[in-house]
Amino acid sequence: MTDLQGKVAVVTGGAGGIGRAMGSRFGREGMKVVLADVLAGPLDEATRSLADEGIEVAGVVTDVTDYSSVESLAQQALERFGAVHVVCNNAGAGAVSEGYMWEHDLADWRWGIDVNVLGVIHGIKAFVPILLEQGEGHVVNTCSGNGGFAPIARGAMGGPATAVYPMTKAAVLCLTESLYTHLEMTGTRVRAHVLFPGGFLNTGIWESWRHRPPRYAATQERRTPEQTLAKVVARFEAAGAHVEFTPLETVADQVVEGILANRFWMMGPPTSADEVVSRKAASILARAEPDYLVDVLAQHADRESQTKGGNR
Ligand SMILES: NC(=O)c1ccc[n+]([C@@H]2O[C@H](COP(=O)([O-])OP(=O)(O)OC[C@H]3O[C@@H](n4cnc5c(N)ncnc54)[C@H](O)[C@@H]3O)[C@@H](O)[C@H]2O)c1
Repeated sequence: MTDLQGKVAVVTGGAGGIGRAMGSRFGREGMKVVLADVLAGPLDEATRSLADEGIEVAGVVTDVTDYSSVESLAQQALERFGAVHVVCNNAGAGAVSEGYMWEHDLADWRWGIDVNVLGVIHGIKAFVPILLEQGEGHVVNTCSGNGGFAPIARGAMGGPATAVYPMTKAAVLCLTESLYTHLEMTGTRVRAHVLFPGGFLNTGIWESWRHRPPRYAATQERRTPEQTLAKVVARFEAAGAHVEFTPLETVADQVVEGILANRFWMMGPPTSADEVVSRKAASILARAEPDYLVDVLAQHADRESQTKGGNR
């Protein structure tokens, strides 16, 4: 697809963060936009804000964990705009688990898997046949370096990081690779893409627990307070790492450029996170210990002090 003008984009998790930024960016390309999210209030606010920018936009309350809800989203998008060209399976639930992975609440696993993995599978199942019939289109699945590259070993709050979130994002990468090959086999022009939002992003994902649905309610009593973005930033700063947020527009730009260039890997320019990929590949090829599974906080702080000529 070389021109997005007049085309239709559907973005799940579109009420906030990266999804909303993608919706706005698509709109500025002249696309018609469907924002889908489980949170009706923020969705309404995001939809109004895009409409105020002059974008042709519809908001559809959708729960990606429920296939009939995603099917209904596809139907409503077709009814409203007559086609769907770009589908962003972007809705996500962040890390909420505490302790070691054998101590994680099973409700955390179910919530993470249902939103981050099954939600993407639902998006593929409901939308890809529509794109195939049209003979063109793009599926963009939002992954993360945390899991897509390797799981972060130690959490931003100090203890072991959640194993739920990276496991789901590793699955998103694998699903998207399969989608790529299956689409190739059909000879279609429909393309699959995997998005790795880079940098430090000021979005709701750090505090997903605020909107935890009752059916995934915790079954174990928490021993530690829930994570907040403010606390994460404070810990990074205390470790000597200066926190600068990457504008969400930068991520949205990567998506538009990636679609126009038919780029499977939607990533920013190479960063230090890429080192994990080479170290992981080297570890596999050498059958060596997985020494790429690092403490991300310490790594950031080390790099920061090196670039500032510090003496750590
Ligand atoms: N923020 C980051 O640093 C970062 C980094 C890498 C990847 N990601 C990924 O980016 C995507 C977007 O997250 P974000 O950072 O913008 O966070 P966000 O919390 O601001 O946005 C996620 C959206 O998904 C929605 N959502 C949650 N459960 C849903 C459900 N069952 N059905 C429909 N919508 C649902 C939420 O209501 C929210 O609006 C996620 O997949 C996340 O894992 C984020």
